[in-house]
Amino acid sequence: MTLIDGKKTAAEIKQEIATEVAEMTARGERAPHLAAILVGHDGGSETYVANKVKACGECGFTSSLIRFEDDVTEETLLKEIKRLNEDDTVDGFIVQLPLPRHINEQNIIRAIDPAKDVDGFHPINVGRMSIGLPGFVSATPAGIMQLLKRYGVETKGKHAVVLGRSNIVGKPMVTLLMQKSNPGNCTVTVCHSATPNIKDICRNADIIVAALGQPGFVTEDMVKPGATIIDVGTTRVADATRKSGWRLRGDVDFENVAKKCEFITPVPGGVGPMTICSLMINTLHARKDNPYK
Ligand code: GUN
Repeated sequence: MTLIDGKKTAAEIKQEIATEVAEMTARGERAPHLAAILVGHDGGSETYVANKVKACGECGFTSSLIRFEDDVTEETLLKEIKRLNEDDTVDGFIVQLPLPRHINEQNIIRAIDPAKDVDGFHPINVGRMSIGLPGFVSATPAGIMQLLKRYGVETKGKHAVVLGRSNIVGKPMVTLLMQKSNPGNCTVTVCHSATPNIKDICRNADIIVAALGQPGFVTEDMVKPGATIIDVGTTRVADATRKSGWRLRGDVDFENVAKKCEFITPVPGGVGPMTICSLMINTLHARKDNPYK
């Protein structure tokens, strides 16, 4: 069994980016700038955004964090997005999700200039990815593709099962795994809450990407010997032994599944650090060789 170390891989990639940014600034060019909009004080979102800002520093980027309270109006957010779209010193920006219920998430995403949409959530970027045109690809699936590539996981002709159909992970993951490229060229099955016999489908999988948000969902009896297991789950579960009172738990019963498979990602330290890393890669591209310019 090989542990896919996302933390180490992300550190290597961030170092590669930092070297490139140092070369850019030595030539007198401006460093990439990422802005993040954070609404409210949700613990998970606070942590994610803080980690994104920290990663910007590690890569030599500048960054700005724009905060709003939970009761912010959609109009105010749309105004801020317009301002960021028009600010030439901002290469890319994100609006951390989820947003409060009174805000229409799709209206917000559609207001972002696709050329600055480093999350890859805008319908134009989703569409471009689906037909193989250059654009920005959603960070978590892009990070998983980097891990498969860097660990030399054979994907061509393999049966990949994606558990979950979210716009952010499941759907783009399906697109990337089936695309004609390396990694890619998989035969893909997508399972969701209305899929019967998920266990049987998983038993036939060479690669499982678990993105359901159900801790420990993938058990040993669902895994074919020698399979590759990618765990996207990051649910906070109570843990009285921790100072915080919680720990992160993935969608895979890691202890038992690890014994059976060829490659597996841990939680934490697997996919999570790669998500942030992909955001940094997208931001570098937005600055350096923006696919829209
Ligand atoms: N919420 C959970 N994951 C993400 C992400 O990748 N980007 C944004 N903007 N919000 C998220």
